[in-house]
Amino acid sequence: MKLLEFDCLDSTNRYLMDLAREGEEAGTAVRARRQTGGRGRLGRSFSSPEGGIYVSILVPLPDPTKSDINITAMAGVAVMRTIKQVCGKDCGIKWVNDIIYNGRKVCGILAQACGDKAVIGIGVNYRTDMSELPEDVREIACSLYSPDEEAPDEREFVTALLENTWKLITGGGDTPGDDSWLADYKGSSTIVGNKVLILKAGAVTGEGLATEIDDACRLHVVDGNGNETVLSTGEVSIRKTDD
Ligand code: BTN
Repeated sequence: MKLLEFDCLDSTNRYLMDLAREGEEAGTAVRARRQTGGRGRLGRSFSSPEGGIYVSILVPLPDPTKSDINITAMAGVAVMRTIKQVCGKDCGIKWVNDIIYNGRKVCGILAQACGDKAVIGIGVNYRTDMSELPEDVREIACSLYSPDEEAPDEREFVTALLENTWKLITGGGDTPGDDSWLADYKGSSTIVGNKVLILKAGAVTGEGLATEIDDACRLHVVDGNGNETVLSTGEVSIRKTDD
């Protein structure tokens, strides 16, 4: 894998998408120590101060007409496995792919298709000073380590993260046909079994019990009348209800 490293970029996803449009091969990754215009899902921004790990990886997309949801879910599993492998910490995944540590978001993932490839952008609050995040983010986010805490070397983390993500997305797992990632994805859900609100463009469009994640990584939500909604689109997000 080729890794391009920067002190500061507006967005590693933006940078790698531009390279991809110019013909960059899959296997290239970009890292920045901070971002000034970090991009999040659903058109949001992603606050990216120093101390976090911000990487984007260009991967092949086997079938350009296929939804990118599995790639996104696979990246979530790759991040979760890396955090366990390098830091020894257990995380969960909030559908689709927010990585949750101690009940708070510690990592966000943004996958963007570009022809027959995709850019997978991963932002981890690694040794982030939480006071540098906007207040609304601070309330729901956390960092794996505080800036004054000892932590495994960031390079070790980045190397493992790139390897795990690449291996999972290009090979499916440790061996061909290995779908243990899917079991890990389903098994680490912080949503299934909870009452959730379905949000579209910020507005609540439904409510119900999250009952399962299926083999296509779709989330099933059943409302009080027994009607089931199957969610597979990136346009939808989920919030636990308060009760
Ligand atoms: C989200 O939680 O909404 C997704 C956030 C994705 C952030 C990462 S940081 C590295 C890469 N570059 C970006 O601009 N965004 C992704």
